[in-house]
Amino acid sequence: MKRTFLIIGIVFCGLSVAKAQNCQECLTDNEVYCVDQTSYRNCIKSKPFGNVIRCPTDTVCTNSTNVCVKSSELTQTTSIVDVCGASGGNECATCNQNYTCVSKNQFARCSGSTLVDSNIYECDTDEICSSKALEHFDNICAPSCVLDFLSLRATCSNSEYTTTTTAAPTTVTPSIDQKKSACSEAKTDLEIPEATLFFFTIYKEDTSCHTYLYCQKNLSTWDTAYLSCKQPQPYFNSTSSLCVATKPSGCS
Ligand SMILES: *[C@@H]1O[C@H](CO)[C@@H](O)[C@H](O)[C@H]1NC(C)=O
Ligand SMILES: *[C@@H]1O[C@H](CO)[C@@H](O)[C@H](O)[C@H]1NC(C)=O
Ligand SMILES: *[C@@H]1O[C@H](CO)[C@@H](O)[C@H](O)[C@H]1NC(C)=O
Ligand SMILES: *[C@@H]1O[C@H](CO)[C@@H](O)[C@H](O)[C@H]1NC(C)=O
Repeated sequence: MKRTFLIIGIVFCGLSVAKAQNCQECLTDNEVYCVDQTSYRNCIKSKPFGNVIRCPTDTVCTNSTNVCVKSSELTQTTSIVDVCGASGGNECATCNQNYTCVSKNQFARCSGSTLVDSNIYECDTDEICSSKALEHFDNICAPSCVLDFLSLRATCSNSEYTTTTTAAPTTVTPSIDQKKSACSEAKTDLEIPEATLFFFTIYKEDTSCHTYLYCQKNLSTWDTAYLSCKQPQPYFNSTSSLCVATKPSGCS
């Protein structure tokens, strides 16, 4: 009897996984693989191929045939799903509990429905952040094998928490052209391989090391974002490409 239940369970899980519109899987509805909430790749025969394509500003990766849809147009009543976002059942960086995941293995505290991102906490190595695990087992970090066993996944698909709101510990504000040429320079300096689609690098003009650049290849040019490290990790470490608490040497 038990065995029958188990088999039914496995078959049922298999079906529901195949039907769900999951982040980082080729979607059956539109043959698109949402890399994260705001970028995607195309799929051929349920396998992702080609470059990472970024959705235009204010739009998110969905299971619509138009792929990128304005987030304001996605309400509970439309049949289109924000695949890597909250309406996709994902809830990355969304405050429904006292803590929330902000990347695959980082989490932050919530104050009501507000994310307190001044302190970002890390799960142990080999652990994955899951809001579902917090909800059901009072533990936001869980070893990946446990999550596999429970058919849970990392709540966030990004590997590092980055905030889009730029704090202003610096007076340096590079122009688009300055950012693009900084990315080209960094690619050469850091010997970034051709196949690498994006990387982070320090912006040299900001000697305080509070800021860094996100460089994403776009044909022969770069799509860039100028980001800053926040307390309690206010410095960018060029070696690890992470925000760190102690000032790296060479920073003013
Ligand atoms: C690539 O650059 C072009 C021209 O600047 C821009 O129109 C386009 O949106 C960019 N593509 C992505 C994926 O950001
Ligand atoms: C998107 O996914 C939802 C949930 O799986 C489904 O109800 C809806 O029909 C899908 N939309 C499209 C355009 O395929
Ligand atoms: C969240 O924190 C508050 C205050 O510390 C506590 O009373 C509440 O039970 C917590 N909620 C959950 C879901 O753990
Ligand atoms: C920067 O990162 C490297 C490599 O992870 C590490 O060895 C070094 O201690 C870090 N420096 C600071 C100031 O955190």
